[in-house]
Amino acid sequence: MAPRGTKDAPGRMSLKLSHLPSRQNIKPVYPRSPSSIDPNNPPWPAYRGYHEYSFAYATMGQRLPTILGKAIEDVVVTLNQEYDEERIVDLVQCIDRMEDLMRELQEQAKLRPIIDDGEADVALWNKLIAKYFHGKTFMNAPWLFAEAYKYRRLQECFSVSKYWKNYDVFFRQKCDTFSRSHDAVFELSMRFAEPFKLKDGLSIEEKTEAERLMFIELTQICLWGNSTDLSLLINMTEDQIRSLQSTGGENLAATEKNILGNHMQRLWETVLSLRQNTGGRIDFVLDNAGFELYCDCVYADFLIQSGLAKEIRFHGKRYPWFVSDVTKKDWEWLLNSMVYGHLFPKASEEEKESLRRLGQRWKEYEKSGKWIYEQHPFWCTGFTFWELHNEAPDLFLHLSRSDLVIFKGDLNHRKLTYDCAAPPSTEFEIAIGPMASAAGAPRVCSLRTIKSDVVVGLGPDGDELAEKLDKEEPGWKISGKYAVVLLSEGRPGEKVVFT
Ligand code: F6P
Ligand code: MG
Repeated sequence: MAPRGTKDAPGRMSLKLSHLPSRQNIKPVYPRSPSSIDPNNPPWPAYRGYHEYSFAYATMGQRLPTILGKAIEDVVVTLNQEYDEERIVDLVQCIDRMEDLMRELQEQAKLRPIIDDGEADVALWNKLIAKYFHGKTFMNAPWLFAEAYKYRRLQECFSVSKYWKNYDVFFRQKCDTFSRSHDAVFELSMRFAEPFKLKDGLSIEEKTEAERLMFIELTQICLWGNSTDLSLLINMTEDQIRSLQSTGGENLAATEKNILGNHMQRLWETVLSLRQNTGGRIDFVLDNAGFELYCDCVYADFLIQSGLAKEIRFHGKRYPWFVSDVTKKDWEWLLNSMVYGHLFPKASEEEKESLRRLGQRWKEYEKSGKWIYEQHPFWCTGFTFWELHNEAPDLFLHLSRSDLVIFKGDLNHRKLTYDCAAPPSTEFEIAIGPMASAAGAPRVCSLRTIKSDVVVGLGPDGDELAEKLDKEEPGWKISGKYAVVLLSEGRPGEKVVFT
């Protein structure tokens, strides 16, 4: 046989298909078709750490190292108070692992698989990394995934240890957000400790209107409770906290105009219809601990007392997540500190009593099964909620039995919408994909103060509105000043199907 490249046999044959466009000219068309969507290729372009125009850039380059640095400082405080040698040595190794993570973050290392630390989510993480992010770095993987991965790696620093598996580097800060929110905490407890009661002698219409107004106010309290999350406001002064947390009626009326996509009236009609069917099941996919969780509970309390809901399920995280997200420990801490704590030395006896009464009532709800706390492993993965149906079918089935699922906060909103550059005029139902369109999808509501790039559901003129804000108020997407309250009707009642 003649060797390659001799005059008998041509060396390299290249096929010329001159009618095809050159490779550089093949650009993906957005939104991508459902079959070409995957975690590395969202329906619209993903935000990635190297996108300087996006909050991804500041987060991956600066915010995450700062957050990790503060976490290391926290562990050092604990270390310095420890006396047992074995525990000290074990904790020093946790710090070493955190420092390794810091180095990887700063050197933009490739994402490695998660070590098997016995957590229920390891297989899900490693499947994602192997299938979609093999060879990707902290900066070129989609921002949502890279950021979630960093929190999973932080968890790993402790979960592989002997004595510090359940250590929460953010716990002290989370407790602080609540105790530093003195004014807003008592503004609410003094108003709502007394069980909710309508004035005597009102007609049915008047009663319904009074409840509607209360519902709208409490929805906003729950919404704006999301504006003071720790991951962004780590260095806030007491005055800044106070002004952001003002829960009074006047302030709420003024901020309602900042709700750029507002389905609150439809939300009211939805919950009202639940009461007509003897009260529904409402699920909260929680976001932050401390003050935000307190606002969520005030809202949930009203939903139970008014008969709009007969059961509330709260979904929290299994381990520390995005700095301030609620874990079981945070949940218990809040309820127990309200009843037994000494967090507010300057409060009057009346104020302290109001907080105790609220806490006692909430603990009763737990005992009687009206409030249920849950923590599915899927909530701490790098998957978006477009994949919830396929990757966590048990959770999808469970949520499909709810009458309304309320997703709190910015990260949950990013996960609902695949955290990509969808046009702001995109309808919420389109932006959340299978969470709206799959058979059996529950009604979904997003209560989110806008703290990152993705913005949808602003209505037909949304693109122009966003452009105007871009020009007039640069930074409007990360300030927490604006918000959305968006509702998707889903396909409740239909049989859930898995392929
Ligand atoms: O790091 C950015 C981010 O992930 C954004 O989603 C938001 O700014 C913050 O962290 C978390 O906000 P939230 O607690 O409302 O989900
Ligand atoms: Mg959060």
